[in-house]
Amino acid sequence: MLKGKRIGVIGGGKMGGALIGGILAHRLVPAEAVIVADVDKRQLEELGKTHGVATTGDNRQAAEAARIIILAVKPQNMAEVLGGLSGAVDESKLVISIAAGIPIRFIAERLAPGVRIIRTMPNTPALIGEGMTALAAGPGATGEDMETALHIFNAVGKTVVVKEEQLDAVTGLSGSGPAYAFIMIEALADGGVHMGLSRDTALILAAQTLQGAARLFLSGERHPGQLKDMVTSPGGTTIAGIRALEDRKLRGALMAAVEAATLRSQALGG
Ligand SMILES: NC(=O)c1ccc[n+]([C@@H]2O[C@H](COP(=O)([O-])OP(=O)(O)OC[C@H]3O[C@@H](n4cnc5c(N)ncnc54)[C@H](OP(=O)(O)O)[C@@H]3O)[C@@H](O)[C@H]2O)c1
Repeated sequence: MLKGKRIGVIGGGKMGGALIGGILAHRLVPAEAVIVADVDKRQLEELGKTHGVATTGDNRQAAEAARIIILAVKPQNMAEVLGGLSGAVDESKLVISIAAGIPIRFIAERLAPGVRIIRTMPNTPALIGEGMTALAAGPGATGEDMETALHIFNAVGKTVVVKEEQLDAVTGLSGSGPAYAFIMIEALADGGVHMGLSRDTALILAAQTLQGAARLFLSGERHPGQLKDMVTSPGGTTIAGIRALEDRKLRGALMAAVEAATLRSQALGG
């Protein structure tokens, strides 16, 4: 799928670097087939040394050399970066953007007509290969383009395909979700400390419990409600804990968090 294609990464920061790491670790292409462009020379040196990829300070050079261009700069730099690429990107290239809140239309207007664009929304666990990325195809992108993009983002975690208008809800759930999970880890650990555990012990118990529960769900076919029922014996400890959560409306609070973050994402993009 990606064999023989050069990948140009524009913006070699945290996300760009994580994607390069994933692409090479999964041997999607060899290091010689990756070229990364950034304004930060030290960043480029580091990426060149760590991964053996080609580097350049010239975004246009990376775009011209590549068949697949990954735009991994901050949203506020996108207009400037796209302005510098006009004329260098035509319909022979696939453009994949990870910039939060930047619509496909915004990118398309600044590149050649008919250019193939896929917009994605990854999240921070991509930095350790445990990301969750939603991908949306622009009007020019083909099924094969989406397959290509899925290959790339599967190298840093899991993927789903959505419609572009659903990316605000993705932002509200998996984009902002790591922060919700960190609060849950912290709060569970506070509960453990309150009940006499050391902070270190409580934190590892909380984090590994969330990770273990998530993995158990992902590894099988069971609904989370079924998995919850399996550990909830009559008159036992877990149902007493669940009763406390239901009294304090944890479910409603989480739903409201996703709704609030989605609406905020819509407002920022609009
Ligand atoms: N981090 C996440 O969890 C996450 C999740 C979802 C989506 N995203 C998206 O991923 C994108 C990158 O985020 P990040 O956290 O990886 O940011 P980052 O670490 O700041 O990386 C961006 C890189 O682009 C460089 N850059 C700035 N202007 C440039 C230009 N004109 N040409 C070429 N390179 C330029 C930056 O250099 P300087 O540092 O010198 O400015 C930096 O090295 C953002 O659009 C963000 O919305 C990130």
